[in-house]
Amino acid sequence: MKPDIKNRADIEKLVNVFYDKIKTDAEIGYFFTEVARVDWGKHLPIMYNFWENILFSTGNFDGNPMLKHKELNKKSKLNPTHFLHWNTLFNDTVDELFAGERATEIKQRAKNIAAVMMTKALE
Ligand code: HEM
Repeated sequence: MKPDIKNRADIEKLVNVFYDKIKTDAEIGYFFTEVARVDWGKHLPIMYNFWENILFSTGNFDGNPMLKHKELNKKSKLNPTHFLHWNTLFNDTVDELFAGERATEIKQRAKNIAAVMMTKALE
């Protein structure tokens, strides 16, 4: 039986494994490695804070994801298939590592945010 997501260390594990997949992904990896040229040393801690805040209401995220993805879409067009693929990779990563209430919640939250982001970024 897999453990549920309990704390920041679990979030860090999830985010690290997820972005390991993203970096080499044939469909959306280039947004990170070529379009945005992400500095992983900076991006990963931002993502730990983002997800920790979502699951545990820590109040430690003050970024603007909607704007970031809107800017990204201006540089290189994002489409619904990209978002669906992002969600598949995210869900697969969660299911590989965790199971339980928090694991279900984080997948649902990701799905909802992706839906809003898609309308905001692509508008
Ligand atoms: C096809 C889908 C997606 C792509 C290609 C993508 C790509 C990116 C890239 C390249 C960045 C770095 C931007 C930069 O620092 O200049 C970024 C930041 C970020 N992404 Fe995504 N993303 C996608 C979907 C999502 C979804 C669905 C979520 C949330 C559920 C999300 C959450 C974030 C957050 C929180 C940041 C940091 C924002 C900040 O620094 O304020 N992304 N994304």
